[in-house]
Amino acid sequence: MNVLGIEGTAWNLSISVVNENEVIVAVSDPYTPKEGGIHPREASQHHAEKMPSLLKAIFDRFPKENIDAVAFSQGPGLGPCLRVVGTAARLLSLKLKKPLIGVNHCLAHVEVGRWKTNAKNPVTLYVSGGNSQIIARRGNRYRVFGETLDIGIGNAIDKLARYFGLSHPGGPKIEKLAEDGQKYYPLPYVVKGMDFSFSGMVTAAQRLKGKARLEDIAFSFQETAFAMLTEVTERALAYLGYDEVLLVGGVGVNKRLQVMLRVMCEDRGAKLYTPPAELMGDNGAMIAYTGLLMLKHGYITPLEESFVKPNFRIEEVEIRW
Ligand code: ATP
Ligand code: FE2
Repeated sequence: MNVLGIEGTAWNLSISVVNENEVIVAVSDPYTPKEGGIHPREASQHHAEKMPSLLKAIFDRFPKENIDAVAFSQGPGLGPCLRVVGTAARLLSLKLKKPLIGVNHCLAHVEVGRWKTNAKNPVTLYVSGGNSQIIARRGNRYRVFGETLDIGIGNAIDKLARYFGLSHPGGPKIEKLAEDGQKYYPLPYVVKGMDFSFSGMVTAAQRLKGKARLEDIAFSFQETAFAMLTEVTERALAYLGYDEVLLVGGVGVNKRLQVMLRVMCEDRGAKLYTPPAELMGDNGAMIAYTGLLMLKHGYITPLEESFVKPNFRIEEVEIRW
């Protein structure tokens, strides 16, 4: 079975074809804002412009006739971007006369991670620009055990980076600067039950401008934010009695975050799983693979239910596998 998947909920327009065993082809065309953060309308225009050439690049390398279904990211994400992706997917499904499958973007991050690491029943720490959630399966649903009360950790890092004049995305730049950090400046550590918040931390870190080295600010920010995420992940592990942690989402490539989680896991006799970097951030293969799983278990999205869902939650999807 070969499934084509289109991802484009935010910055990355990415298309891929996968089968049960591997990613067969994958192409991406990321949108990078000229200045500031991601502008939804500009990002959607970017996706609309690049869609034809990306699809052509796929079909140059993989015959259209061999595609069994068309999967697309139905949400959550930026409305204008989701509409471009949804329209392209609907057209393609009609043209190829193959079923359409609307995929939850967060579920796709989790499933591609399980696929590529062989984690069985993990507590997943999903950390990206827009999202920060601790997810685990209970019965036939994934449940969110803890999440950010305001902005995602990636957006928090990007905001901090932007304030210091670094271009988008800020994550890799802050990580690099933090490597040379020497002094820790305390920042608000906000964990409320299983939830957490980052916006107060961003403001406090911004106030250090001119008073502290940028390397030390980046270092302090990462240490504080990642400790919060590690603490809540550990609490979910203890509560559920699971012994696997899966790290997914664009922020998951951060080496410091990986080290903190690994130390926590080792202390508890648990194992940390990290998918390959190219499958951690937004990518078409995760949508294609989750579409394939869904197709195998009888999910097809009728046209009239293929509308975009900007606030689509992972709990809404019944898991049949
Ligand atoms: P979602 O829709 O799931 O919220 P997203 O649109 O934010 O996804 P991702 O690719 O999952 O996209 O994540 C992008 C985020 O990852 C950006 O905020 C970026 O700064 C951050 N990021 C990338 N590399 C690193 C890094 N090395 N350290 C920390 N953050 C990083
Ligand atoms: Fe994502």
